[in-house]
Amino acid sequence: MVNAAEYEDRPWLDPEAEPFIKVQSVSKQFGDFTAVDSVDLEIYKGELFCLLGGSGCGKSTLLRMLAGFETPSSGSILIDGVNMNDVPPYERPVNMMFQSYALFPHMSVEKNVGYGLRRDGVAVSEIEQRVQEMLAMVELSQFAKRKPHQLSGGQKQRVALARALVKQPKVLLLDEPLGALDKRLREQTQYELMNIQEQLGVTFVVVTHDQEEAMTLSTRIAVMDTGRFQQIGTPTEIYEFPNSRLVANFIGNANMFEGRVVENGQDHVIVESRHPECNFYVDHGMSIAEGSKVWVALRPEKVMISKQQTADGNTNTVKGMVHDIGYLGGTSTYRVKVGDEHLVEITSPNQLRPKDGNPPIDWDEEVYLSWEPSSSVVLVK
Ligand SMILES: Nc1ncnc2c1ncn2[C@@H]1O[C@H](COP(=O)(O)OP(=O)(O)O)[C@@H](O)[C@H]1O
Ligand SMILES: [Mg+2]
Repeated sequence: MVNAAEYEDRPWLDPEAEPFIKVQSVSKQFGDFTAVDSVDLEIYKGELFCLLGGSGCGKSTLLRMLAGFETPSSGSILIDGVNMNDVPPYERPVNMMFQSYALFPHMSVEKNVGYGLRRDGVAVSEIEQRVQEMLAMVELSQFAKRKPHQLSGGQKQRVALARALVKQPKVLLLDEPLGALDKRLREQTQYELMNIQEQLGVTFVVVTHDQEEAMTLSTRIAVMDTGRFQQIGTPTEIYEFPNSRLVANFIGNANMFEGRVVENGQDHVIVESRHPECNFYVDHGMSIAEGSKVWVALRPEKVMISKQQTADGNTNTVKGMVHDIGYLGGTSTYRVKVGDEHLVEITSPNQLRPKDGNPPIDWDEEVYLSWEPSSSVVLVK
């Protein structure tokens, strides 16, 4: 018996659920340059979905195709079951919030927010009510009469958000919505954005190049590179189980070891690495031939560092020398030289205060690195 609540926060796992947005083999060419290369995507109602990737990888182009500002060169886009190919932007159940916010400088906050409703000929009393509700939601009621230049960056961002949401779109498209804010404000605003999205239940599609932002905000992330999706998954799936070196390196940091599969068991694989010399015992099976070349990715926070040898042999442990220490207060980052050249990065929480000012592990000290069999990920590309 399937419990409906089971899928409430993860509709993509529900075999019965219909995606709200379907992107089917969509490409976009500019001349002979392919900006978006035959992508498929399904987004469900109520998701906060992020398109994440470096500059120029095609994120905005894809978002603009959802909005109707660009036409796909091939493929189709369906929203709520309707093919959007011949539907102009203003007739789509979507609204877009631009990176620059594009507020009207001469209009007050409330006039900015009500602009779209006035243009649509909504009755004055209804406009009044909806604008006030929206301003309350983004906590700007007391600034209703101000002009944009009298607001901070974060407040302008909220005006733009209110203006986009007041029209009650089914989907809100946001292109780098927090790009203009400084780091601290951006973090705070991320939570506001999530709260508002949750309250309204509107589907958000957010473009960002900031991986931490994508991790914080999203129900799911599509990692994009040169017009294609490299991986689509929840933040945890993408971080813990990247499907390629590219994704592993793009999301967070990863130590990457080249090796060869020397044993492929039912429930484990052993990968032999030469540089540094060690064996990785990985506690999940894989369909891969013994002898294949692979890479093992190991996140810095999953490596334990110790002055004492914690395991015999060379499985899931290596000996090295501390090359660099970055003290960040709450954590320290160690770069440990293993073998001739290879540097392994480790991040470790500073749980204990240093005694007499001496750090627990110092430069040029000999250390042992070790990790759990579940900590490394074997990658074939
Ligand atoms: N109107 C256009 N004409 C020609 N090339 C474009 C146009 N729009 C975008 N491009 C190119 O397509 C690529 C992807 O652009 P874009 O989608 O804006 O990237 P992103 O948002 O990921 O930074 C870039 O190389 C960009 O120069
Ligand atoms: Mg862009």
